[in-house]
Amino acid sequence: MVDPFGRAIYYLRVSVTDRCDFRCVYCMSEDMSFLPKGDLLTLEELDRLCSTFVARGTRKLRLTGGEPLVRRNILQLFHNLARHLDSGALDELTLTTNGSRLAFFAPELAACGVRRINVSLDSRDPEKFKAITRRGDLAQVLRGIDAAQSAGIDVKINMVALKGVNEGEIVPMISWAHARGMDVTLIEVMPMGAIEPDRLDQYLPLSDVRAEIARHFTLRDLAYRTGGPARYVEVAETGGRLGFITPLTHNFCESCNRVRLTCTGTLYMCLGQNDAADLRAPLRESASDDALNAAIEEAIARKPKGHDFMIDRAHTAPAVPRHMSVTGG
Ligand code: 5AD
Ligand code: SF4
Repeated sequence: MVDPFGRAIYYLRVSVTDRCDFRCVYCMSEDMSFLPKGDLLTLEELDRLCSTFVARGTRKLRLTGGEPLVRRNILQLFHNLARHLDSGALDELTLTTNGSRLAFFAPELAACGVRRINVSLDSRDPEKFKAITRRGDLAQVLRGIDAAQSAGIDVKINMVALKGVNEGEIVPMISWAHARGMDVTLIEVMPMGAIEPDRLDQYLPLSDVRAEIARHFTLRDLAYRTGGPARYVEVAETGGRLGFITPLTHNFCESCNRVRLTCTGTLYMCLGQNDAADLRAPLRESASDDALNAAIEEAIARKPKGHDFMIDRAHTAPAVPRHMSVTGG
């Protein structure tokens, strides 16, 4: 699939549930209303949608949420999708998780062919971790990370940089993760969905963070890419990799290779734009995939050039009304 700007779209991210057992302060409001369970696509429908994308040239699938591992029987979907890894149609099947249920699921995920996962971890201080997630248990997440590594899965740590909250933990997080053979990616807060705190108070430009890290470590720019928006450096002292995702200070849309599917079958062609295509109606319309294929083709032809994220005093409202948990981080 190639979009109007000549970008090959071979990466599908699927939010399999909008629910989560955490309520991270930058992601959700304390009091979230979630979709009625009946609105969700079934696991069979999600499989059919993903498989249609694979047949159209998608090489990489990532299941996200919300928290993908809170969806009932989600391992069934991983098991089924693994057939595309076996056939060689798919290069990678992966997930982004908060780690809360990873200790339980890691061995089975590995058995499904999952080789790399992203685990969100914004603090290694139990109190601060609880405050950021509003309910998470750090020890449980750390057990999950251990279990994933023991199962032979590569773990990458995603850390959202939060002004005045975890600023001081960034350098120690890098040392800790690199000592355990895990890459770290730092992420700027994105203005998605209503939350109680003011995002301007949370926003910490990664350009400042990088300057601070460079006072502790020697950073060398790398050409390495994982097919995502992160730009990587190597930390000379640790030999580990550090990524920066900077949607605010630096736009990366020119190399976008992805689209995002929600758990209700809505396809968002850009994380930062509202235009979307409904794939649920064509999916349910008939057992043949013709209508679905036509809808996907039409949607890719509308993929926008990029997002318009901005956080400053003149732009305090979210750029898009939906939370990250709807389209997947
Ligand atoms: N801005 C930046 N990152 C976010 N995440 C969730 N909401 C936001 C936001 N508004 C992150 C999570 C996780 C990934 C799925 O997205 O911390 O690492
Ligand atoms: Fe859940 Fe991830 Fe959002 Fe935190 S950032 S509330 S873990 S979906």
